[in-house]
Amino acid sequence: MESLKAMVLWSLVLHFIPGLSTLETIGPGQSLKDNETLVSAEGTFEAGFFNFGDQSSQYFGIWYKYISPRTVVWIANRDTPVQNSSGVLNVTRVGNLFILNGSGAIIWSSNTSTAAKNPVVQLLETGNLVMREESNPENLLWQSFDLPGDTLLPGMRLRSSMVNGSFTSLTSWRDTEDPGRGVYSYHIDTRGFPQVVITKGGALLYRPGSWNGNILSGIPSATLYKNFNFSFVITEKEVSYGYELLNKSIVSRYMITLTGQIQRFVLSDLTSSWQLFYSGPADQCDNYAVCGVNSNCDVNSSPTCECLQGFIPRSEEKWNAQNWSDGCVRRANLDCGNSDGFLKYQGMKLPDTSTSWFDRSMNLEECKNFCLGNCSCTAYANLDIRNGGSGCLLWFNNIVDLRKLTTGGQDLFIRVAASDLGHEKGLRKKQLAGILAGSAVFIVVMILLAVAIFRRKRLEKPGSNKSVSWKNHTVKTQKEDIDIPIFKFSTIANATNNFCVTNILGEGGFGPVYKGTLANGQDIAVKRLCNNSGQGPKEFINEVVLIANLQHRNLVKLLGCCIQEDERILIYEFMTNKSLNYFIFGHKFYLVPTLGLILP
Ligand SMILES: *[C@@H]1O[C@H](CO)[C@@H](O)[C@H](O)[C@H]1NC(C)=O
Ligand SMILES: *[C@@H]1O[C@H](CO)[C@@H](O)[C@H](O)[C@H]1NC(C)=O
Ligand SMILES: *[C@@H]1O[C@H](CO)[C@@H](O)[C@H](O)[C@H]1NC(C)=O
Ligand SMILES: *[C@@H]1O[C@H](CO)[C@@H](O)[C@H](O)[C@H]1NC(C)=O
Ligand SMILES: *[C@@H]1O[C@H](CO)[C@@H](O)[C@H](O)[C@H]1NC(C)=O
Ligand SMILES: *[C@@H]1O[C@H](CO)[C@@H](O)[C@H](O)[C@H]1NC(C)=O
Ligand SMILES: *[C@@H]1O[C@H](CO)[C@@H](O)[C@H](O)[C@H]1NC(C)=O
Ligand SMILES: *[C@@H]1O[C@H](CO)[C@@H](O)[C@H](O)[C@H]1NC(C)=O
Ligand SMILES: *[C@@H]1O[C@H](CO)[C@@H](O)[C@H](O)[C@H]1NC(C)=O
Ligand SMILES: *[C@@H]1O[C@H](CO)[C@@H](O)[C@H](O)[C@H]1NC(C)=O
Repeated sequence: MESLKAMVLWSLVLHFIPGLSTLETIGPGQSLKDNETLVSAEGTFEAGFFNFGDQSSQYFGIWYKYISPRTVVWIANRDTPVQNSSGVLNVTRVGNLFILNGSGAIIWSSNTSTAAKNPVVQLLETGNLVMREESNPENLLWQSFDLPGDTLLPGMRLRSSMVNGSFTSLTSWRDTEDPGRGVYSYHIDTRGFPQVVITKGGALLYRPGSWNGNILSGIPSATLYKNFNFSFVITEKEVSYGYELLNKSIVSRYMITLTGQIQRFVLSDLTSSWQLFYSGPADQCDNYAVCGVNSNCDVNSSPTCECLQGFIPRSEEKWNAQNWSDGCVRRANLDCGNSDGFLKYQGMKLPDTSTSWFDRSMNLEECKNFCLGNCSCTAYANLDIRNGGSGCLLWFNNIVDLRKLTTGGQDLFIRVAASDLGHEKGLRKKQLAGILAGSAVFIVVMILLAVAIFRRKRLEKPGSNKSVSWKNHTVKTQKEDIDIPIFKFSTIANATNNFCVTNILGEGGFGPVYKGTLANGQDIAVKRLCNNSGQGPKEFINEVVLIANLQHRNLVKLLGCCIQEDERILIYEFMTNKSLNYFIFGHKFYLVPTLGLILP
């Protein structure tokens, strides 16, 4: 990093400014006072007393020496500032590190557990303040990297014990000028398959997630991280997580903010300032369990929350009012035998693993069979997605906090009853759907327009007010401002038995038409439009409103529509004894897809 090199050279000049003194190490009996600092060998980091402008709150901390404004990465006495600038950092003969205030009271202590012979304190180039034997740089007696503050530097690791429940965490500051321990914590939860979580006063807010072999499961794109080597190590005694930079000329840090966000910054070469590289939670779907249980959160779909296939809202009313907290329940009970099956979800962030179980040796097929063998097993996935996938991760009971990622993600297999198999939501089918000549909805609108004009001409009586007659005859059941009911995709899927082939009334130029029955018993005809040249939700709604405005008594009533992801669906009233064309175009008109209207 050129700019950093320049700054380091500049530092050599600053070294000789009177009143400031920098040291490389301090030994027993030595101390560090205000205006005396330790500097790492190549000048990247500096440690010493500092304040945030208030002389009566002094902290001993570590910061990047040549990045301005001062970016503090670690503070010893974050909860116990020294009251004036008379604080000192002392090193004892046996290798304990103390901060004493002006009256000699111990404000902070390193509590070094092993006694040293010849201890020295040194600030390493990594930003790690260490206490080591003078003769043996490898033998660390104490290090600041074991006590993370709000920042995770490269080489630092978060650890959670598997034996006694103790863990280290990144903990937010209380305020911009108060580094005291705040309410947000970023740490590893060791229950089930270990995962990284952010909590607020103990309540789970966001899961960066479990380890997938490359990265945490909730981080959207591993490819962004080509310069980072993340590692997640699970042993019988502890789990740890950290990262290294593969390109030594990059300067990066990772921290938890005052508001509980986790943010990665990279120092820009050009401006020598921090650039935000990643921030999480990044969107609504990152909020823990925002869609309740057994649901999937997808920011690119409307509504955002959707029950998993084979599940229905626990409370339809609340769900439709977009209160997702009650989540979803199974539509059909599992058989618990071999007739159950699994539906595959692609590109997912894995659900909460705190009640999961894992095995490194099983492959995906064994994993599936194992899951089938235990009735409370509800989902499975590969533990490690590298090299085609390996290992087995199993979930029991409810699926919590599942989301679709915009990029990256992995396959998750969700158990459903036999009756819910074979009707996969058709993500692939949808993609394969034929290419349409023009916008299907546009053609429908054109037809209806033609119908309307045709009808209007016939109905117009000489001398009558056109608009009134138009209204009287055609907008009987509609209000002045048309409010198009929007159906949830899951409602339509449920009504049509998941778009079952046996429900197809016919196949038109725009896609299949299904017969369905709503939960209230009303029969409907469902026109599921093929992928239509990327028509946005807004345009679609506008066209649907047009159709609704043109509704005529001789036309089948449009009940509403459904927009979700790429789905564009029109829902009509179903009338028996009418041909398929009737449902779509009215009884008098037939459509030849590429030619347009043929009037009988
Ligand atoms: C440290 O330097 C500042 C500014 O130069 C000065 O105000 C302060 O008194 C100094 N502290 C000590 C302990 O000398
Ligand atoms: C700090 O406070 C102590 C006790 O109140 C006093 O003796 C000392 O002079 C103060 N030091 C400074 C630098 O203000
Ligand atoms: C701390 O260091 C200062 C300066 O070296 C010394 O005067 C003082 O006695 C030390 N205090 C302790 C408790 O070691
Ligand atoms: C040093 O700390 C002790 C105990 O916290 C406190 O009573 C005393 O006033 C402090 N002195 C200074 C100078 O901050
Ligand atoms: C050292 O021990 C004291 C007393 O048990 C504790 O309050 C303090 O947090 C410990 N310091 C560190 C750095 O762990
Ligand atoms: C908990 O176990 C870890 C090892 O996993 C150990 O380092 C730590 O000192 C233990 N903490 C307590 C409070 O026993
Ligand atoms: C990443 O770190 C792991 C463990 O720390 C190490 O085994 C691996 O070689 C590193 N990968 C690269 C590309 O440096
Ligand atoms: C390391 O990063 C620097 C600055 O971004 C870039 O110029 C250089 O090409 C990178 N080196 C490698 C090996 O990727
Ligand atoms: C959603 O429902 C839950 C419980 O069913 C209730 O506690 C909560 O207040 C509701 N939220 C809103 C925004 O209405
Ligand atoms: C199924 O798995 C659960 C959770 O691991 C376990 O408690 C239960 O005993 C298992 N049941 C059977 C029949 O293996």
